[in-house]
Amino acid sequence: MRARGFAAARVVTCDPARDGALGVVKDAAVVERGGLIAFVGARADAPSDVPLRDFGERVITPGLVDSHTHACWVGSRHAEYELRMQGADYEGIARAGGGIASTHAAVAAASLERLATSLAERLKRMGAAGVTTIEVKSGYGLEPAYEHKQLEAIADAARRPGVPDVVPTLLALHALPASCRDRAAYIAFVAAELVPDVARAGRARFVDAYVDRGAFTADEARVVASAARRVGLGVRLHVGQFADVGGAELAASLEALSADHLEHVSADGIAALARAGVAATLLPVAGFTLAQLPPPVAALRAAGVRLVVASDANPGTAPTESLPLALCMSVRDYGLSIEEAILGSTRHAAAALGLVDRGVLRQGARADLVVWDLPHEAAIVQPWGVPKTLEVIARGKRIYPARRAKGTDSSSVS
Ligand code: NIG
Ligand code: FE
Repeated sequence: MRARGFAAARVVTCDPARDGALGVVKDAAVVERGGLIAFVGARADAPSDVPLRDFGERVITPGLVDSHTHACWVGSRHAEYELRMQGADYEGIARAGGGIASTHAAVAAASLERLATSLAERLKRMGAAGVTTIEVKSGYGLEPAYEHKQLEAIADAARRPGVPDVVPTLLALHALPASCRDRAAYIAFVAAELVPDVARAGRARFVDAYVDRGAFTADEARVVASAARRVGLGVRLHVGQFADVGGAELAASLEALSADHLEHVSADGIAALARAGVAATLLPVAGFTLAQLPPPVAALRAAGVRLVVASDANPGTAPTESLPLALCMSVRDYGLSIEEAILGSTRHAAAALGLVDRGVLRQGARADLVVWDLPHEAAIVQPWGVPKTLEVIARGKRIYPARRAKGTDSSSVS
């Protein structure tokens, strides 16, 4: 098996076995063989028979992990955005039948092929910004048949070449379908049939529920999340985006891997997350779009809760595809240190998806890495909007820049 090496002035390993928060190795090399990392360390110690590509005064990090996205959507919510910018509020628009319901209508009407193709194209763009693993939720299908269609589209897109590795999540409780006449019966159905069906089909690794004012109660989410645990799926929850309705305590009692949003969470909720080892996933683009105050980051940090940063990519509250933009905002608006932002989108994000084989550059891990056209990892969080990636490698294969199909370009690609 052919091995390939990458050398640069700074390699940010995120390996806790190394010194410093980010385990930076200077004048370093990373060697990939068969999709896995075969060596990380000083360039001088790299195996001498492996060709090293020298990226000079640049920085290499693990591939980024975007652990919370609603990337599978079609349609446009520009009219709603305009209303919101004129003062209409997100929850009011949702109550009037817009918001999630409007994307539901577009997703329900789209063919499986269209959904999968638009998702695959979006995933490639997200990969170009440095993301090599991405969680994608359903949740716009709402009706069981459309939830299945959305998960099928996610699986289809995930199989296409050049996309990041996809972790699918059944967002089982996002909004009630319009056809629903009996709330309790719908929730019982989701727990008794939809969740086990999706698990049987192998279409999701996690189940999520939106635990909030105007969405679902902690008791409703508990029914569905417990069903998920019974069929071997992990749990992650939308918690306290608009109000604290006990979602953090629920996430802790279910041993969820992550509680996400957390703009509204009590001291008891934070303590419960800390005790249960639930990560806090911060979604600063949504906070920015909704002009909200930040979550209690200092209290989460002081309690020892692991901080993760994700894009929340969705057409309503986080109209972006850029995890690097979320990192910029996490530092600028939420007060994360640069180290926290980088760990929160690499090792800690991977852990929040139950993945220990990535988010870190060490021997045996997946060869997922980003060569940044930047001199230092600190620069990742301040050139806003433009991803400064030079190359993105997922499982040893280059996903950015995309390889051109044979015959379409005579210029050479390495
Ligand atoms: O994470 N708040 C719930 N869900 C999404 C928004 C979905 C939408 O508006 O389409 C979120 O912010
Ligand atoms: Fe979300």
